[in-house]
Amino acid sequence: MSFEEMWDELLPVGRDSASGGYRRFAFTAPELECRAWFAEHAHRRGLDVERDANGNLFAWWLPPDGRRDGAVLTGSHLDSVPGGGAFDGPLGIVSAFAAIDALRERGAVPARPIGVAAFVEEEGARFGVACLGSRLLAGAITPERARALRDGDGRTFAAVLAEHGLDPDRIGPDDDLLARVSCLVELHIEQGRALTAPIGAASAIIPHGRWRIDFAGEGNHAGTTALADRRDPMLPFARTVLAARSAAERHGTVATVGKVAVEPGGVNAIPSAVTAWLDGRGPVDDAVRRTVADVEAAARAAASAHGVTVELAEESYTPTVRFGTELRDRVVRVLGGVPVLPTGAGHDAGILAACLPAAMLFVRNPTGVSHAPAEHADTADCLSGVAALADVLADLAAA
Ligand code: GLV
Ligand code: MN
Ligand code: MN
Repeated sequence: MSFEEMWDELLPVGRDSASGGYRRFAFTAPELECRAWFAEHAHRRGLDVERDANGNLFAWWLPPDGRRDGAVLTGSHLDSVPGGGAFDGPLGIVSAFAAIDALRERGAVPARPIGVAAFVEEEGARFGVACLGSRLLAGAITPERARALRDGDGRTFAAVLAEHGLDPDRIGPDDDLLARVSCLVELHIEQGRALTAPIGAASAIIPHGRWRIDFAGEGNHAGTTALADRRDPMLPFARTVLAARSAAERHGTVATVGKVAVEPGGVNAIPSAVTAWLDGRGPVDDAVRRTVADVEAAARAAASAHGVTVELAEESYTPTVRFGTELRDRVVRVLGGVPVLPTGAGHDAGILAACLPAAMLFVRNPTGVSHAPAEHADTADCLSGVAALADVLADLAAA
């Protein structure tokens, strides 16, 4: 089955017919359908499917001697942000299956296993921590903390894992699995406009993190409560959003408040509480830290001026990731020289780079739009990505 045919199979899954955006949250029906699609395509190709204790999926093409160590891993993720695009995640997985097909058509016989991974909860859209599956695998989050993470309905990650046949007591680092992998190459759509050639390779991921800000005030009647009597958490929240923008401008970073929850959410009620999530990223750790410190100071000052309490908690932080130059240079050499660029987006490869040699291939995104329905890569560029990935896998798995 061609790349395009596989792509068309996944295209309707979890897509909102009005906006065209995707909602494929981890372990919800659309993501489970994508995972079933993954298993089906692995089986059709005679690949061994493995689900690790953290819920990550792997499909292994084993060499004729049945060797299981020294594997070359590729793949990406199947979950999406709310209202996301079709390419962020699935492109790396569909391209991986298509690259295996291309290698087989060429008559290639790998000397090492080639694995296709689908990492769980890469976006953190359901449980709040991005790259949760790869973090658990790598030991970058404690199992205790992961088990206690809650989704928007208050359900814990532990409960959801158990519902899907996984033992929450067994989640955590898997040194045996990692020891079987010699390197990881994740293919991904580029998420900005920086890549003007069809294919590129990643040099680094800029530091990024998420902070939860809880404002608590006093719920009351919107018509009968005098302005002077209000403790309205919406007001310091609003000031904080604007402060995030100014802090980002001052420190040369980016700061985004893309999610907010208002309690109880009545048009005619002063809210009792507002929770906002701040996403902060920048070229260096210090600039991100200073941005967040300024946002916190502004939130505290505004909260105090309105008789509101405020708490700020770091939910995740990923310092600068620099992909090792040895693997990256090899990938670039195999491809005959492609541009190398940093990215402002987080990736499982960035988490796993702490444990094993990791690299990334990017496929051009002509408009740079991502995490939105208009995210797009041209089919010709996607096919160049498949060919590039096949060449890279052939080289890495040759001996
Ligand atoms: C994931 O795509 C992220 O950068 O948050
Ligand atoms: Mn993403
Ligand atoms: Mn992604």
